[in-house]
Amino acid sequence: MSEIKSIGILTSGGDAPGMNAAIRAVTRTAIFNGLKVYGIYRGYQGLIEDHIEEFKTQNVSNIISRGGTILKTARSMEFKTPEGRALAYENMKKHEIDALVVIGGDGSMTGASYLAKEFDVPIVGLPGTIDNDLAGTDVTIGYDTAMNTIMDCVDKIRDTATSHARLFFIEVMGRDAGFLALNGAIATGCEDVIIPEEKTQYEQLKELVANGFRKSKSSAMVIVTESKDPNGGAMGLAKKMKEEFPDYDVRCSILGHLQRGGSPTAADRILASRTGYAAIEALLQGQRNVMIGVHNDHIVNVPFAKAIKDDKPIDQELLNVLRVLSI
Ligand code: F6P
Repeated sequence: MSEIKSIGILTSGGDAPGMNAAIRAVTRTAIFNGLKVYGIYRGYQGLIEDHIEEFKTQNVSNIISRGGTILKTARSMEFKTPEGRALAYENMKKHEIDALVVIGGDGSMTGASYLAKEFDVPIVGLPGTIDNDLAGTDVTIGYDTAMNTIMDCVDKIRDTATSHARLFFIEVMGRDAGFLALNGAIATGCEDVIIPEEKTQYEQLKELVANGFRKSKSSAMVIVTESKDPNGGAMGLAKKMKEEFPDYDVRCSILGHLQRGGSPTAADRILASRTGYAAIEALLQGQRNVMIGVHNDHIVNVPFAKAIKDDKPIDQELLNVLRVLSI
């Protein structure tokens, strides 16, 4: 095994609050251990296009509290091709970058595992996505901040929903995962949730509405995960419900990209700092092709294959918590 003298760091895919705290942690832990650090801009695309700059400790000053990513990000189509990955590897060699730290979601970890396999590059990943959909880690960087943003927005929607006695459908992000929706609904006392992991929810929802939001309520709020919801997301559901229950005043609100912004919460800053530090420790100890996660408050090394392929199940009990507490 060759000794690692320099590392490259990049952020890829959708940005997430806490990515900057992770960049800071990785950079400073690497420099502390005598490694050279290269910041790679715009994710894998920047690696292909040689958008690379040496980072000193000052490059990451005053960024722990900032949302987004100072390294910028991209979803690189070119990197999905063997030719693109070969160009990326050429630039690693050109700058004598021995190893990579990749911060991102499942697409980013997939890209990392290809590069690692094809060119025998040591790579360690950090789970950076608001979706919380990477297996092997209890949480991902950005999830807690997005959850708090959702809570803030839904609390505000409740004020107007209550005042007008309305039925509200609120769409949140999460792609194919219902973590943001389900826990967001619990945190805001919503009446119901529609998530990709559960199939029979529409009938249940109709029953809930037919029973006058379970007996005593004049307004109700339902959080819906975006993407493949067969009912057409929050907008589609609102329309369907209006057709079925013309007496109800139905509205819909799509939270969109505001969920990805903002200053990271304490939980995300600490998670990013711990996992960023652990990423360099792992590389120095000869670990490769793993994503650093946290399980039961302990740092864990999750093989890329597991982090990407395994489904991360939602806790069914949480659905009961939501439904019992919203009677
Ligand atoms: O993966 C993070 C995420 O915000 C998903 O929740 C969402 O489906 C997607 O990215 C949106 O991506 P884009 O910003 O490219 O529209």
